[in-house]
Order: sequence, then C-alpha cells, then structure tokens
Amino acid sequence: MAILIGSNKVRTAVFISGSGSNLKSLIKFSKTRQSPISVDLIISNNPKAKGLNYAKIFKIKKKVYNFKNKSLDESRLLSTLKRQKIDMICLAGFMKILTKNFIKKFKGKILNIHPSLLPKYKGLNTHQRALKNNEKYSGCTVHFVNSKLDSGKIIIQKKIKISKNDTKVSLARKILTQEHKIYPKAILKVFSL
Ligand code: GRF
Repeated sequence: MAILIGSNKVRTAVFISGSGSNLKSLIKFSKTRQSPISVDLIISNNPKAKGLNYAKIFKIKKKVYNFKNKSLDESRLLSTLKRQKIDMICLAGFMKILTKNFIKKFKGKILNIHPSLLPKYKGLNTHQRALKNNEKYSGCTVHFVNSKLDSGKIIIQKKIKISKNDTKVSLARKILTQEHKIYPKAILKVFSL
C-alpha cells in the first residue's frame, strides 16, 4: 500500500458509532513504534457514541456527521478528510453505509472489522444468527471495503470456538477481545503487502 517516508505515519481516521473499544485498541497500537499509522481524526454519526470520549482522552480531533442528508454529510466529511490530510480510514463499529462515490475516493484505503467469519453472516445480528444455526465456530474478519456490504477482500480472520453455553452476549465479548488483536495485525499486513 502506501510507502512510508522517514518516520511519517499514514494519517488515519477511525469511524465509530458506539463504544469504540476497537478505536481504543487502534489508538494504542498507533502509538507503538511498529505502527505504520497515526490516528488523527475520529468520525461518528452518533453524537452520543461513548467512543467519542477517546478524542478527549487521547487529544484527537473529532467530528460528528449525523448522515441524515447522506450526500451532503459525505461531501462535508470528504472536505474534512482532505483538510486533515487523511490517507486511510478504519471503520470500527460504524453503523452507516458509505456511498459508492465516497468509497471510490478512498479506493483500497478503507478497512472494516466485522464480527463473523466472512463471507458468513454479513450485516447485523451476526452472533444471534451464528448461535441459531448451531455453528461450532465463529470469529472476526478485517477486510477492505468495497461497494458491496461486508464483501471486500479479506485481510485477516480469527476463528474462535463457540461453547455450548455461549449466549450472544458472551460470544460478542469473546469475539471483541480478538477484534482488538486482529485489527492492528491487519494494518501491519496491509502495509507489508
Ligand atoms: C464490533 O464487534 C465490530 O466488529 C462491529 O461493531 C462492534 C463495535 O465495537 N462492527 P466497538 O465500538 O469497537 O467497541
């Protein structure tokens, strides 16, 4: 992907809608020497997203766009990304679907994390569906974003065993712990490609 010149890290925006635990893990990773990225901007569609608190804690710029008028908000967002010289986007629990036009502008530079072993269980309620189908395994996937939902090229996956007494809550918790590990790994992999 991008070539790192000197010690300059690739300026990255993380998009969130909720608690932002993946955001936190990405910020922590970005501060390590081996990280090719720096987290310079946090974007949310939800002004109440708990994860926005990390902007204050880690002194990172944040912006909220509610996406009610998607094309208008996306064009404002694109201007912000340009102004902040953002070159990479990590979606981390971001609950809005970006338009084809937006994705084209950051072609090959948007990653997403999804709590299932894609291509299984694209979309919402992944854990519930995996349990209902009596799956023995589930997991998480980091992939490139293309214009089809949860369908871009897979970068990395982590498989976990579903135990008999797992509920959608316990499964989500188990998988989230793994998500925090594989997102940084996926970024390292992307930059070594
Ligand atoms: C994660 O499970 C992620 O895979 C999914 O939404 C959840 C976000 O969690 N897309 P958090 O906001 O990073 O804590």
